[in-house]
Amino acid sequence: MDDDTNDNIFKQTFKYYKQKATPPSFDDVIDFKNARNLDHVNVKQVPSPSNELVNELGLKCKENWEIYELKNVPGLFVIPNSFTDEGRRMWANKCVTEYFKKPHETNVDPFEDNPDNMWKSSCKYIQSNAGKGSCTYEDSLSLLKCCPIWKLRWATLGFHHNWNSKQYSEQPCSELPSELRKTSKLFASMIGTDDFKAEASIVNYYHVGNALSPHDDTSELYLEAPLVSLSFGLSAVFLIGGTTKDQKPEALFIHSGDVIIMSGASRLAYHAVPRILKPASDAQFKSCSVADNLDLFMSHSRLNINIRQVHS
Ligand code: OGA
Ligand code: MN
Repeated sequence: MDDDTNDNIFKQTFKYYKQKATPPSFDDVIDFKNARNLDHVNVKQVPSPSNELVNELGLKCKENWEIYELKNVPGLFVIPNSFTDEGRRMWANKCVTEYFKKPHETNVDPFEDNPDNMWKSSCKYIQSNAGKGSCTYEDSLSLLKCCPIWKLRWATLGFHHNWNSKQYSEQPCSELPSELRKTSKLFASMIGTDDFKAEASIVNYYHVGNALSPHDDTSELYLEAPLVSLSFGLSAVFLIGGTTKDQKPEALFIHSGDVIIMSGASRLAYHAVPRILKPASDAQFKSCSVADNLDLFMSHSRLNINIRQVHS
């Protein structure tokens, strides 16, 4: 039997939202999409970037952008629903076709013969193994679980972060793609950081049932710069507290197309992803074989791209 009595409040909250046996209540979760618990946030407006940049990065075209800051976690900003449908597809597509390829690094490198081929061979597998008739959400999950891409958990771009030593490589392992540099610079400038240098990115690939344990991000040698985080696909519960795990964290939903910025005090705060949510309605696929492979993958996955400045 798991004894929780010695757990700090962060760990308790993490376990509460992660639990599978009894689904948690989401009543206290801040939710921008459904306008719930918005008394926990302040909002301000900033002018929209240029049309050219908006189009190039797949962003929504709007006159002003609304930026929310958590009252209990100063410096934690959320810019909800920032990307168009087409923009989200463009980013998701980059995650499954580009960001895991050499010279970027991934968790699957040591095991795969030809990791660069992971998406292509997954599409091939789907095409040759999908049934002809209609296919349920569970059927499509079984299919995806056999695909090489399902094993992908993370990719690192630019300076590589070594998870064991918690140190960044001395030299970048790859060039940070320009769209990552432009997007992170743009969002950093929206909160008043005009000199953000995008140097490293971690792309996390999650499926329903996965979680990211409580941690802080302090391996960067310069911690004054914000960290910019983009999310696509399935929604998640995100927890963020303070610099000790004894501070009760806030819980918020991150939906597809939301941008989170950790800056100021929140840059050093403990955070976690206890839960990835299934789609609200159990999607029925007409046929796995004709369903779009990217849609199929995204209905079972959450992609998080976070971009960091490592040096001053
Ligand atoms: C991380 C992280 C959060 C997320 O990669 O360090 O905190 O939303 N990711 O997936
Ligand atoms: Mn983190």
